[in-house]
Order: sequence, then C-alpha cells, then structure tokens
Amino acid sequence: MTELVVASNRGPVQFEVDDDGNLTSGRGAGGMVAALGPALAGQAGTWVAAAISDGDRVAARRVARSGRLRTVELAQGGVHLRSLVFDPREYQNFYNRIANRTIWFLHHYLFDVPRHPRFDRSFRVAWRHYEGVNQAFAAACDDEAGRGGEVFVQDYHLALVPAMLRRRRPDLRIAHFSHCPWADPGYFQMLPGAVAGAILDGMLGADQLGFLVPRWARNFLHCCLEAGYRVDFDRHTVMAGDGRRVLVRTYPLGVDGEALRERAGQADTRAQDRVVAELARGRRLIVRVDRMELSKNILRGLEGYGMFLERNPRARGRVVHYALSYPSRRDLPEYQAYTAEVKHMAEAINERFRTRTWEPVLLELRDNYPRALAAMAAADVLVVNPVWDGMNLVAKEGPAVSRRDLALILSRNAGAADDLGPGALLVNPFDTAELAETIATALELPPDERAKRAALLRDGATALPPRDWFDRQRTALAATAQTPG
Ligand code: G6P
Repeated sequence: MTELVVASNRGPVQFEVDDDGNLTSGRGAGGMVAALGPALAGQAGTWVAAAISDGDRVAARRVARSGRLRTVELAQGGVHLRSLVFDPREYQNFYNRIANRTIWFLHHYLFDVPRHPRFDRSFRVAWRHYEGVNQAFAAACDDEAGRGGEVFVQDYHLALVPAMLRRRRPDLRIAHFSHCPWADPGYFQMLPGAVAGAILDGMLGADQLGFLVPRWARNFLHCCLEAGYRVDFDRHTVMAGDGRRVLVRTYPLGVDGEALRERAGQADTRAQDRVVAELARGRRLIVRVDRMELSKNILRGLEGYGMFLERNPRARGRVVHYALSYPSRRDLPEYQAYTAEVKHMAEAINERFRTRTWEPVLLELRDNYPRALAAMAAADVLVVNPVWDGMNLVAKEGPAVSRRDLALILSRNAGAADDLGPGALLVNPFDTAELAETIATALELPPDERAKRAALLRDGATALPPRDWFDRQRTALAATAQTPG
C-alpha cells in the first residue's frame, strides 16, 4: 500500500523475451511515458500498467508467482510496477477498437467521416471490454492505494477509472490527466449518447482533471455544458452528478533540458552523431521525428518538402530531409495503410529529384532514440506539423538538444505552439504550400535571428520539466482535500 499510485495503459518499460528466454527491457514509447517516467522515478509509489508485449506478460506472471512488485530502473531512478494481464480479445477490443480507433481518432479529428465511425453491435461488445479493463484498473488502484492516498490516472484509455475508483474508495484523492487534445462538443457528440455520457461521468469521478493547454480544457468544459452539467467557466469547475465540484486545470509540460543534454552527450548518442553527419554530408539538414501516427501529418510534411524542392531548384542537392518515423499501433489497418503511403510518398520525391550523388529524403522506420537525439542536435530545421497534438514533446526536445540553433517549423494545432509560439515558425498543418514556403524561410533565416529564436525556443521548451509538471498537480490535488465539496 502506498500514498501515491499512477495508472496508465502503457508502462514505463516494455519487456522482451530474448532467444534464451531471458527478459530484457527498453523504454516504453510515446509522450505520456516520456513525461511520467522522469516525474515518478525515485519517488515512493506504484505504477499500475497493462502488460502489453509478450515479454510484459511473462514478466507479470513471474511477479504474480513471487507475489512481489517488480522494481524497474529508469534513467532517473527506480519505480515499482504492477502489471495487469488481460484476456487477449478483451484487451484488443479495449486498446485497438475503443481507445485507439475511437477515442484517439475522436480527439484528433481523424475519422474518415463518409465511412467511419460506425457504432454497430460489435462496437457495443468492444465497449463492454473497455469497461472491463477500466474496472480491472480501478480494482488494482484500490488494492495498491493506502488510506487517503493519491491516485493519478492517465489518458483516454482509462476515462472510466476515476468514477469506478471513487465508488470503491471515497477516501482517495483522484486526478486524471489527458495527454492528448480534447475534441469540441460537435465532434465529441458523434459518439453514441451513452458512451459520451459514460466518458464524461467517468472522468468527473476525479477531484481534478488535467489538460496540457487551455484549448483542450475549454473543449472539455464545453462538452460538459452541452451534456447538461453545471459549468463555471471562471473558476474552471464542473459540478459532478453527486454534487462535488471537479477542478479542470491546465498543466503545460516541457522537457528537462539538462537531463536531455546529458543523454545526448552519452557514448551511444555520440556514435550516432557520426552516423548523422555521414548522412548529411555537409548539406543543410531538415529533420522530423515522430511515431508513424496518423495525427503526426507525415504525408503532408513530405508533400510540403517536395513542393519546396520543386519551387527552389537551387536548393536541390544542398538539403537533405531526414524523417525518422517509428512504428506505432501496427495492428490497425489505418496505420498499415498510412505507413505504406508515407513510404510511397518518400520514394516518389526521391524518384523525381534524386541524382547520382544525392537522395533528397531519407526515411528511417526503426525506433532509435540515440539516433533521433543526434539528428535533432545536428538539424538546421525541425518540422513538427501534426494535424492536432496534445503538446508534442519532440518540438521541445529539438531546441533543448540543438547544437545549431535549429529553426522550428511548428503546427499551430500542437499544444506546444502555446509555449513555443514566439520562437517558432508557426504553420497551418493543412496548408502544404505554406509549409513549402516556410521551409525556404527557415533555411534562410539570418544567423542573428536564428540565435534569437533558438534562445526563445530553449527557454519555452525547458520551462516546465516533468518533475515540476507532476509536483504542481500533486500540490493542487492535495489542496482539493481542504476544499469543501
Ligand atoms: C502518446 C500520447 C499519449 C498516449 C500514448 C499512447 O504518447 O501523447 O496521449 O497515451 O501516445 O501510445 P500507445 O503507443 O501506448 O498507443
């Protein structure tokens, strides 16, 4: 039993079983883990997560036999991990069908509306599995949390947990944090009424709801208003069904500049510096780093670069676009199709412009964190153009590790635009012609302006490191204990 429990679908590490049956572990992917790992490491507390890979399930079963929690070592210290194993069909419906294909698509406006979504009978079955997994998380939090303890529930996978947990344990302080955007009420109401209602009710079981930037918090408040809740827009509160006032707060998240620079100085990244230099061969380097994710807008990014080459013949042979796009959610047909389109688009640009000595686009599809850090450190321009993004930590990692005063091209629909606006070159992510022009502008920025912008970017990116982000939420949650309901 502990004072502090964190619950998220993906855990801080992912285990793999090697050929000899030994377990090895690597860093869990994505922004949520990147934020929470450093925030929690070294603190007394328990992290409850799903066993996702085969290795995770093996690790979880070994723990279950010994009855002990596993302590996993992160760069910043150890965390206790409680891993939950689910029936594969139930988990697949929970994760792929509901969390990823429905709620994630919803909050990023990704539906192909003429065809999807369709809320048929099989959707109802999948929704019951979503409820089942949320129930299991609530039970595990109940198990782990000591009397009067604090539970921090993460993201859209676990939207029902706060209310489920409150019913079991009214003594707990419960917070929920959304690491992604929140859709406006018109789009949100595409969900079947009962499902939309369950999501809002589930989240309002918390004492405090956190969002990355004010836009997403505002959308959530408007969804509550439309659903008939009493909303106080001045005090940022919603009156829950049981008469509690739920705080809806914004907690922007940045990166730990010092820790990142130290990481970038380690031997494995230094070795990658040489690899990146080899790839660039003295040419100007335009970099992007994303998961292969529909919301990241990789296709329009490549298209904009192709247009830039078309319109700027003198740039040909003098620039290289290095796009690092790591595998993500490979079970989803939409992601498989998207990956194929990205490869096709990169190849089309190369076919159109390549010469015997120059490959205009280099597409890297394997996950390689040291390589990504090395690429960002060496980049002249970093392109971050998501259609929508809760924050986008790559936009903050780049300026923090840059050795060349990188110019940042940033989608105004990324939460990060709120913190990096003054230093970045903001773009409309749907306007590929604007992106093409902005690439030209970024490459031509005079050195003093680059330096001025880079300083602003560095300050904006590192202002709110994960530890502070998490501490601010903890302090605010503790204060809710003194606020009469
Ligand atoms: C990114 C998002 C998080 C989300 C995570 C899930 O990090 O910012 O909101 O929780 O992706 O990714 P996964 O790979 O676990 O599906």
